[in-house]
Amino acid sequence: MQWYRRTFIPPNPPRVILITGASSGIGRAAALLFAAMGDHVTAAARDTGRLEALRAEAEAAQLPGRILAVTADVMDPAAMQRAVALTLAEFNRLDVLVAGAGIGHRGPLVEADWGALQTVMRTNVDGVLHSVRAAVPALRASGGGHIILVSSVLGVVPAPYAAVYSASKAAVEALGRSLRGELRADGIHVTVIRVGQANTEFAARRLGRSGRVATRWPTMTPEQVAGGIARALERHPRTLTLRWIDRLFIGLGQRFPGLMDRLLSRIYGE
Ligand SMILES: NC(=O)c1ccc[n+]([C@@H]2O[C@H](COP(=O)([O-])OP(=O)(O)OC[C@H]3O[C@@H](n4cnc5c(N)ncnc54)[C@H](OP(=O)(O)O)[C@@H]3O)[C@@H](O)[C@H]2O)c1
Repeated sequence: MQWYRRTFIPPNPPRVILITGASSGIGRAAALLFAAMGDHVTAAARDTGRLEALRAEAEAAQLPGRILAVTADVMDPAAMQRAVALTLAEFNRLDVLVAGAGIGHRGPLVEADWGALQTVMRTNVDGVLHSVRAAVPALRASGGGHIILVSSVLGVVPAPYAAVYSASKAAVEALGRSLRGELRADGIHVTVIRVGQANTEFAARRLGRSGRVATRWPTMTPEQVAGGIARALERHPRTLTLRWIDRLFIGLGQRFPGLMDRLLSRIYGE
């Protein structure tokens, strides 16, 4: 039996959930979990083949929820408008946006390739903006809903040699906090999830120098993060940090910034 079959109680009625970054890692695990719960999912990313494989896997497993595969680049506002329009055409409503698409960068900031830095900001910040701006009118039309922004512990405690990635996730933190106040009257909740190190393709796809990987830092599975997203939809927290070790990391980073900066220079150093 697959992990996603035995995790959560099915929501009633089923929700319609748009997930960006659904072709791999956390987004893919979330798509399977929600389809297993009976929700309908629009799975958006650039890799059409992997999205189709995801849809086929859900169909072969006879999951109760349907998956609609939509090829979309979050950097393109028109593509995100289209992803929402296709969702409405297929499922008639939208209840949840999970903005999961993202890419990392490692290496010294000053020497970094400008194109790579732009890609990080355009994916992690512009991509979230385009996704939110496309989704909110549909969420409003459905009478409210929930937006999940996938951030990182580095969005709260930035690391050396990960400056632009940290800055992009700090922007996500700020966007989430502002939006929460703006959308409350519409009945739209906003949760920022601060993910720690997760075992996905993220590290392999990271731009810039590969740098040292913090091998001794424990990793989460994408399924665990997907479970956290499902929990956030039930409980509506403002922010969610899934593990005690990540909560400790954030707490120490805020309380003892000098000490943490020195420690992170050693962990993230070239
Ligand atoms: N893994 C970690 O250690 C970790 C830690 C903290 C935070 N996070 C955050 O978690 C989120 C998910 O990452 P992951 O770990 O699941 O990594 P992943 O396995 O590399 O997945 C990243 C996803 O983002 C999509 N994506 C990237 N650029 C895109 C674009 N321009 N348009 C549309 N989709 C795009 C990719 O799909 P396509 O290539 O098919 O477009 C892929 O589906 C990211 O926001 C990341 O910053 C991860």
